Amino acid sequence: MEFVKIADKDKANYMELLLIADEQISMIEKYLYIGDMFALYDDDVKAVCVVTEEEYGIYEIKNIVTVPKYQKKGYAKNLISYIADYYKESGKQLFVGTGDCPGILKFYEKCGFLKSHVVKNFFTDNYDHPMFEDGIQLVDMVYLKREL
Ligand SMILES: CC(C)(COP(=O)(O)OP(=O)(O)OC[C@H]1O[C@@H](n2cnc3c(N)ncnc32)[C@H](O)[C@@H]1OP(=O)(O)O)[C@@H](O)C(=O)NCCC(=O)NCCS
Repeated sequence: MEFVKIADKDKANYMELLLIADEQISMIEKYLYIGDMFALYDDDVKAVCVVTEEEYGIYEIKNIVTVPKYQKKGYAKNLISYIADYYKESGKQLFVGTGDCPGILKFYEKCGFLKSHVVKNFFTDNYDHPMFEDGIQLVDMVYLKREL
């Protein structure tokens, strides 16, 4: 297993994967080039993630996705462990925001995150179309955090 930091010039090559986690290109473009992108390779690419520094020492996962056929094999959890380790010298906390969906919340809790706060109507205010995850419409953004 290898963790690779992706250069700006190569980030767009991963757009198809990023769109699985965040389905609007204009939203991805808001964070893609101000953030760091990491990829987990195990022969080929298995998972990718984009992280921004929101304020001094406060980092946020903006996008994380595992290639669908390789999900539930521990790749995203490994990538989050790597990221937490990568930022532990410079950072205090790692946040992630997601829809209010039990499966995804469970995944983040398994990765050491605890619920932090809710941003009301984030998805309905910021996306140009209604979005659904496991049949649930995404409305509020639920933030979770993990100490670094
Ligand atoms: C969410 C996602 C990144 C998880 O990636 P993954 O590589 O399958 O996750 P892992 O295999 O590392 O799972 C880690 C743990 O979370 C659990 N888990 C993962 N997905 C889960 C789900 N949907 N429901 C419940 N538990 C889940 C795993 O069972 C595992 O538990 P364990 O540590 O007890 O074995 C992946 O499902 C994905 O790419 N989804 C589409 C994009 C997306 O929704 N991204 C998040 C946007 S906020």
